[in-house]
This record gives sequence, structure tokens and C-alpha cells, in this order.
Amino acid sequence: MRIIKKETYEELSRCAADMILAAVREKPECVLGLATGSTPIGTYDCLAAACREGKATFRQAKTINLDEYTGLGENDPQSYRFFMEEHLFRHIDIRRENTHIPNGLAPDAAEECKRYEALYERLGGIDLQLLGIGQNGHIGFNEPSRALEAGTHVVELSESTRIANSRNFASLSAVPHGAITLGMGGILKARRILLLASGEQKKEALRKAVHGKVDPEVPASFLQLHPDVTVICDFSLTL
Ligand code: GLP
Repeated sequence: MRIIKKETYEELSRCAADMILAAVREKPECVLGLATGSTPIGTYDCLAAACREGKATFRQAKTINLDEYTGLGENDPQSYRFFMEEHLFRHIDIRRENTHIPNGLAPDAAEECKRYEALYERLGGIDLQLLGIGQNGHIGFNEPSRALEAGTHVVELSESTRIANSRNFASLSAVPHGAITLGMGGILKARRILLLASGEQKKEALRKAVHGKVDPEVPASFLQLHPDVTVICDFSLTL
């Protein structure tokens, strides 16, 4: 793992965006694995600015997002589809049909997982996967567990994740109890992985992910098994 420490969130975001822009320049038709949460917002702002200024184009790029809450549709401001439109897609020149997120309103969630898994294969895998990390060490919505799932699956969100994510909802009771997420297999098959962690509240989770044992109770620790992971954080992991 390559660890890059930045002084500020702005520098972290710039650095992440530069890596993504380089990947898109090198391979215009690349497949980007994208994440939601507050951490990548600064990165997305930088990508939007680069596109606006004519320094980058996403015309041929494809994206596949990690996850979506079950029960939330694309017009729901709390859905991850809404988040992605708001923070990235409507600011760049990507084609809507090339952006993929699980359908949280699919009548049969298990079927939706199968569709998403087939889509992943059809796209030919992910060239660069952007990740945040949950305070409990989750990635995507692969929650701490005695055993992790490889494929796209429906997950029941842990109470700690619902509480952490409730800041984006009117109340804790409004936070969905479930989600559809790419599994650890899909994430680990990405050719390159870029994990972002900002703020001291992520320090313990990142420390375990980077320096701890590979443990399904810390899903991000499985990234130690991947040959090309870059971590960018804005705090020191050693203190
Ligand atoms: C959600 C997402 C994760 C994300 C995490 C951290 O649970 N499913 O993909 O990494 O939040 O979010 P934040 O960046 O807001 O701390």
C-alpha cells in the first residue's frame, strides 16, 4: 500500500482528483468505480472544475457506483443516485447511460444484485476504484461481519453505520435499514484502488485497515491483499 499524507482536505481532494484525471487521460474509455459520502465531495468538485475549464473530458468514461440504499429512488435527495448527480454527473460531460448505480427501488433486490453483477462483468471490471471508509471499517456497504460476501448483495446496515449516516437524514428513523452493495470481490478485482480518509474520526478505522490483521470485522483490511492500493489521508497514521 502506498500512503500519501496531505496537510488539508483540499490537498487530499486535489491529489485524488489528479490521479483520477490522469487515469481518464491515459484511457478515455476507462471504468471508474465511484463512492459516495462526504469524503469524495472535494474530489468531485475538482473533477467538475477540470471539466468546466476544458482540461478534462469524461465523454467516453463509464462509472459504476459502489452502493445504494434500498427503498430510495433517484429523485429522493438522500439516494446515492441523487448524490452523484448533484455532486458530479451534472457538472461533467459524462453520458447518463454510462453511469451506473444499483436501483434502490428494484422490486426484487436479489435480482437487482444479479443484474449489477452482470453489468460489472460486461463493463470489463473497474480500472480505478475510489473508496471512502466507514468509522467501523466498512467499504461500500460491506459491513463488519464474521464473513464477507464476494458478489453484489443486499446488506442490513449496522446500527453504527445508520447513526453515522443519519447526519444526512432528517432523523435516525429516516435512515434506511438496507442497501445494495458491490461485494469485496468486485472491489478487490479493481485494477487500482484509491482510498480516501479525512478527519481524526477515521484514524482508528484506517489504522486497523492498513496496519491491522486482515479481518472481516474490518472489511477495509482486505485491501492489504490488493497489489495496487493508494491511501490518501489528511492525518498522521503513526501518532
Ligand atoms: C457510506 C458509504 C461508504 C462511505 C462511507 C463514509 O456508508 N456507503 O461508501 O465510504 O459512507 O462516508 P463519509 O465519507 O461521509 O465519512
